[in-house]
Amino acid sequence: MNILEIDERFGTFDYIIAHGIYSWVSSQVQEKILNICKYHLATNGVAYISYNTKPGWNMRTTLREMMLYHIANDSAAKFFTQATADAKDTYGRFLHKELNHFNQLPASFLFEEFIDEENEPLYFYQFMERAQAHGLEYLGDALFPGATNDVHQEQMMDFLHNRHFRHTCLCHAI
Ligand SMILES: C[S@@+](CC[C@H](N)C(=O)[O-])C[C@H]1O[C@@H](n2cnc3c(N)ncnc32)[C@H](O)[C@@H]1O
Repeated sequence: MNILEIDERFGTFDYIIAHGIYSWVSSQVQEKILNICKYHLATNGVAYISYNTKPGWNMRTTLREMMLYHIANDSAAKFFTQATADAKDTYGRFLHKELNHFNQLPASFLFEEFIDEENEPLYFYQFMERAQAHGLEYLGDALFPGATNDVHQEQMMDFLHNRHFRHTCLCHAI
């Protein structure tokens, strides 16, 4: 069913999971996802939302634009992979590593990840500003050893590691 159709008849839940949705939907649906977390999460419940993050997606946006430009030409990825095989510069090496990785993934995944019309990466702190505006607070990330529950420190780590995806757990703000 459509996420937008979820209403008060659903009641509350201990866990709410929205994996691989938030970055690929309209702002209206994004707003609704956070709304659902606020109004359908039990008092001590945990909501999980995954999404594409910057700065990692600043560089991946180049790959997305490359794929959109070459959408009718499926040999383009192979061309770029071969053309960068011996690259010594930072950009060429980045391109080769990313394309090599993506060449091994199913086309359906690449389509959803890169070519879908909606694709809005954002910084972790921006995501948290939206969550906090809905009365939600940062609990931690589901996948990152050594993660803290401090938004500023986590944002600094994202800049340091060029992070491109987050699995954020939210709870009610006290
Ligand atoms: C990038 S895909 C990810 C699919 C899956 N969650 C995964 O991680 O493999 C995004 C999904 O969001 C779904 N979607 C987009 N808008 C939606 C809405 N308003 N209600 C329910 N699903 C929606 C799309 O149909 C699509 O399957």
